[in-house]
Amino acid sequence: MTALTLDANTLLEHIETLGNIGLDRLNGGRSRIALTDAEKLGRDQVVSWMKAQDLVVHIDEIGNIFGILPDQSGNTKHKALMIGSHIDSVFNAGALDGCYGVIAGLAVTKAFRDEKIIPSRPIIVAAFTNEEGVRYQPDMMGSLAHAGGLSAEQVLNSVGTDGTRLGDELQRIGYNGDMPLGTLVPSQYLELHIEQGPVLDKEGIKIGAVSNLQGISWQKIHIKGKANHAGTTPMSMRHDAGYAAASVMTFLRDVTRSKPGTLATVGSIKFEPNAINVIPRAAEFTVDLRNPDNSTLYASEQALTEYLEVLSQKEGVTIETEVLARFDPVIFDENLVDAIEQAANALNIPHRRMTSGAGHDAQMIARIAPSAMIFVPSKDGISHNPKEFTEAEDLVQGAKVLLATVAALLSPTQQ
Ligand code: HGY
Ligand code: MN
Ligand code: MN
Repeated sequence: MTALTLDANTLLEHIETLGNIGLDRLNGGRSRIALTDAEKLGRDQVVSWMKAQDLVVHIDEIGNIFGILPDQSGNTKHKALMIGSHIDSVFNAGALDGCYGVIAGLAVTKAFRDEKIIPSRPIIVAAFTNEEGVRYQPDMMGSLAHAGGLSAEQVLNSVGTDGTRLGDELQRIGYNGDMPLGTLVPSQYLELHIEQGPVLDKEGIKIGAVSNLQGISWQKIHIKGKANHAGTTPMSMRHDAGYAAASVMTFLRDVTRSKPGTLATVGSIKFEPNAINVIPRAAEFTVDLRNPDNSTLYASEQALTEYLEVLSQKEGVTIETEVLARFDPVIFDENLVDAIEQAANALNIPHRRMTSGAGHDAQMIARIAPSAMIFVPSKDGISHNPKEFTEAEDLVQGAKVLLATVAALLSPTQQ
C-alpha cells in the first residue's frame, strides 16, 4: 500500500475547533455533557467533518454516530475495522478526552481519501453516546449498548441526574437515528486516547500500547438521618446523615490502604436540607471504586457493604445503596497490542505496555471484537480538568501510530 500521510495540521485544527465547542465562562475548559445543546453542536461538527470526507454516515437509535469509508466493493459493514471514542465530556473538561480519538479516526480516513486509496476492508469511525456517564449512568453507555450490554429501551428510558429521560433529550437534539442498535459489528476495534494519568509523562515515553483496563464499580449511597437544630441537639442524640457520609469517605481512604491497587473516589455529594444550622436529614453521594484485579475490587466493595451495616447501627441512620455501574477488568487483544507496538517500532517511537486506569469505549467493544488502545502522554497526568494537555507533537505522533497500525492491519497480507 502506498505510504499514507497524516494531515497533522487538520488534526490539530479539528482538535482546537471541537475544543472550542461548549466553552465554560466560569472555570475554564468546556462542558459538553451528553445530549445537551453544547454536545449537539459537537455532534453536528463531527458529522459535518464526516460528510466533508464523503463518508457514509449512520446514526443509530441511541445516537451513536458512525462515519464509514467503504471498501473496494462499496461494502460498509463486513469485516470492518472500527476506530472509535467519544465527544461528550465531564464538567469543565479538557479538549482531548475522547475527542482526540474520534478526530484521529477521521485523520486516518482522510489519509486514505487524500491518497485516493480505497481500503481493503471498510473503516468505521465511531463517536459513542454518553461515554462519561456524568448525566446518565452508567458510563460508556453507548458502547456498552452497542456491545449488547444494555437494550435500546433501557438506554432511552434512563433518567438523568437532572430528571430528564435520555430518549427525550436525544429526540430534542435530533440524534435519535434510524440505524438499529448494534448493527455494525467490527472485526477489530482501535481507540487512540490520552492516558489521563502520569505514567508516560513521568517516564518520558511517547506511546502506550494498552494491554488491559481496570475494573470499575459505581454506586450511589443514600443515607437517611434526622434533621434537628444544630444548637440545641446534644451530640449523643444526633442521627446525622452528613457525619455518616463523611465517615464513609474516610473509611474508603482506609480501604485503599488495605486493598492494594484500589482507588476510591467520592465525586458528588448532596445534603438535605443543606443549611448551616440544621443537622442533615439526608446525604446522597457517589462512590467510584477501581482496581485492575477483580477479586480485590470485589473485596473492596464487600468491605464497604459491611462498614455501612455497622455505621447505620452506630449512628441510627438508614443506608441504601444503588449500583450505577459494575464492569470487570478487561484484557485487550494480544495481536492488536502487538500490531501497535510494531507500528511504534517502525516509526522509532519509544513505547511501553500499560494498564488503563480510566474506563473507555474500547472496554465495551472488546465484548464483541478484538480491541486495543493507544495512549499518548498527559502532561502531569492531568485530565477531567481544563489543564488537560498533550504536546502537539505527541498528538501527531499518536495519530501516526494509529494510521500505521491501521495500514498494517488492512494490508493484503492481513486479509
Ligand atoms: O469514568 C471513566 O473512567 C471514564 O472517563 N468515563
Ligand atoms: Mn475518554
Ligand atoms: Mn473521561
